Amino acid sequence: MHHPLFLLLVLLLPGTWADPEGSPIGSFTVRLLQISTFQNTSSVDTEGLGLLEDIELGALDKRTWNIHFYQPWVRPALPRSDWDTIENMIKIYLQKFSHLINDGASERDVPYPFVVQCVAGCELYPNRTSRAFAYVGYNGQDFLSYDVDLGKWILYEDTDLARYVQATLQNYTAFSELVQVLFNDTCVDDMELLLQYGKAALARREPPVATVFARAPGPAQLLLVCRVTGFYPRPISALPSSPFIPKPR
Ligand SMILES: *[C@@H]1O[C@H](CO)[C@@H](O)[C@H](O)[C@H]1NC(C)=O
Ligand SMILES: *[C@@H]1O[C@H](CO)[C@@H](O)[C@H](O)[C@H]1NC(C)=O
Ligand SMILES: *[C@@H]1O[C@H](CO)[C@@H](O)[C@H](O)[C@H]1NC(C)=O
Ligand SMILES: *[C@@H]1O[C@H](CO)[C@@H](O)[C@H](O)[C@H]1NC(C)=O
Repeated sequence: MHHPLFLLLVLLLPGTWADPEGSPIGSFTVRLLQISTFQNTSSVDTEGLGLLEDIELGALDKRTWNIHFYQPWVRPALPRSDWDTIENMIKIYLQKFSHLINDGASERDVPYPFVVQCVAGCELYPNRTSRAFAYVGYNGQDFLSYDVDLGKWILYEDTDLARYVQATLQNYTAFSELVQVLFNDTCVDDMELLLQYGKAALARREPPVATVFARAPGPAQLLLVCRVTGFYPRPISALPSSPFIPKPR
């Protein structure tokens, strides 16, 4: 029960109960990201970030491994959490994670430096069903993914290190079951609460700011470049049209 990944999941997704009423409608995804750069066997830099859609909920302080919330509504949305305990458990998880990877890497002569990326979370659909996911990357390549339906870690790359990590994770069946419960249920419950508390942030509308500048790529042409920034939500549709207009004389 003290497996590092298990700890991460528990810590970042404390148990809460949700009342779905009043939540925004649509598909929403919660993602927890971890990026660990292994410089050598004694030096690891870890960054952690939590996202609801593209809203940054909070991040891990690189030096102290404390959590900093970026939105005032995140902590009130998770009322049952004892954040002191959670922060301590995250530190234990990160230490164990580093040991696990360092042990596997040095036994297999894996060259340093290398980067391990983990992303886990859940997506909630408008019909209120959900899908959980967990992926591990190594040096920017897909490495392992968790198949929630099969309850198994799937290899992308058949290397010694990938097999080691897969076997280590697979050896903990209680852990795999926990991943399922956490991401099938807890993640979705927490997301329902985040959607309520963060409704205003998700529903906000920021008008675009447009800047137009001109270039003359040829003697008879003027290229107008229109840059639009600052708008929210992100998805936009643009009407295709030629940026070239005849150069005025
Ligand atoms: C490990 O990497 C860190 C950061 O680059 C460096 O300061 C340290 O001297 C290195 N230690 C060893 C044993 O190579
Ligand atoms: C709910 O929506 C998702 C995404 O559109 C779809 O994949 C899934 O089959 C739907 N589930 C049900 C029970 O309708
Ligand atoms: C989690 O969801 C998957 C896919 O919907 C399902 O196969 C699995 O039994 C669920 N596990 C738990 C513990 O609820
Ligand atoms: C997984 O468990 C098997 C059987 O108990 C053991 O032989 C193997 O060394 C374990 N692998 C890891 C990576 O812990």
